[in-house]
Amino acid sequence: MSDGPARRPVALVTGSTSGLGLCLARRLEGRYRLILAGRRDRFPGPLPEGAIYVAADQADPHAASQAIETRLAEAGIDRLNLAFLNAGTGTYGDPFDEDTASVRRTLAVNLEAPLLLSHALFARLQSASGRLVLIGSVARTGSANLAAYAASKGGLDALARALGEEWRGRVAVSMIHPGPIATGMHEKAGFDPKGLRRFFASPERMAAMVERAVEAGRSRAVLGSAATLAHLIGSGMRR
Ligand SMILES: NC(=O)c1ccc[n+]([C@@H]2O[C@H](COP(=O)([O-])OP(=O)(O)OC[C@H]3O[C@@H](n4cnc5c(N)ncnc54)[C@H](OP(=O)(O)O)[C@@H]3O)[C@@H](O)[C@H]2O)c1
Repeated sequence: MSDGPARRPVALVTGSTSGLGLCLARRLEGRYRLILAGRRDRFPGPLPEGAIYVAADQADPHAASQAIETRLAEAGIDRLNLAFLNAGTGTYGDPFDEDTASVRRTLAVNLEAPLLLSHALFARLQSASGRLVLIGSVARTGSANLAAYAASKGGLDALARALGEEWRGRVAVSMIHPGPIATGMHEKAGFDPKGLRRFFASPERMAAMVERAVEAGRSRAVLGSAATLAHLIGSGMRR
């Protein structure tokens, strides 16, 4: 019997165009029908077989959430087995120097959009007894020169705890806090980790760890122990 994309379980990945999200998409390819979301107009490179790409800039959380919901409805997808809300952004620097637009963008992309999307996806996740996976950060506990980013990830952690209670027995929730990952995020944020980068987990390795935590049904996980240690030491050294 054919195992074509239409017969597969369905997984959504936001922030699928680079870094961890792209690696997660590559790992799920062939086993899931993929809904890949990103802020870019197009997915970089060929789309996995049967995948749908949705351009959804989370800087406008309401519009992004609606765009994804509408695309799912158009494609006739009424069951969602996995949703990785992974898109993230941030700006590195003295909080006194961060302008309001940058603070708002970080909070919109990292916190408000996942909150709205979680609610928009709930019915489809429930229909499949599915799992919502929120990608946070070890920076959630407070990290020097990452005030808005740390606040957004701290808020995401609280969202996961709240949804875990509200959705208990209906939709599972996994809150994943990775340590530093060797992606383009640091450069985009204006931070050069210099020699510390060698301690960072590769996005491929982190994607494998995330998948293992999800498959094990973990509701919370801090991943990348050596990398997390490097992050904490690095934060301390920069203070
Ligand atoms: N890198 C780390 O050290 C680290 C550590 C802990 C947690 N994390 C978290 O891991 C997740 C993935 O980050 P990453 O390291 O893979 O960084 P990345 O390579 O920069 O990937 C981030 C993804 O989010 C997308 N994105 C950014 N702004 C967006 C917006 N306004 N609307 C929609 N999508 C947007 C990016 O799009 P583009 O491809 O267009 O840029 C990209 O696909 C994030 O939630 C991040 O906070 C990262």
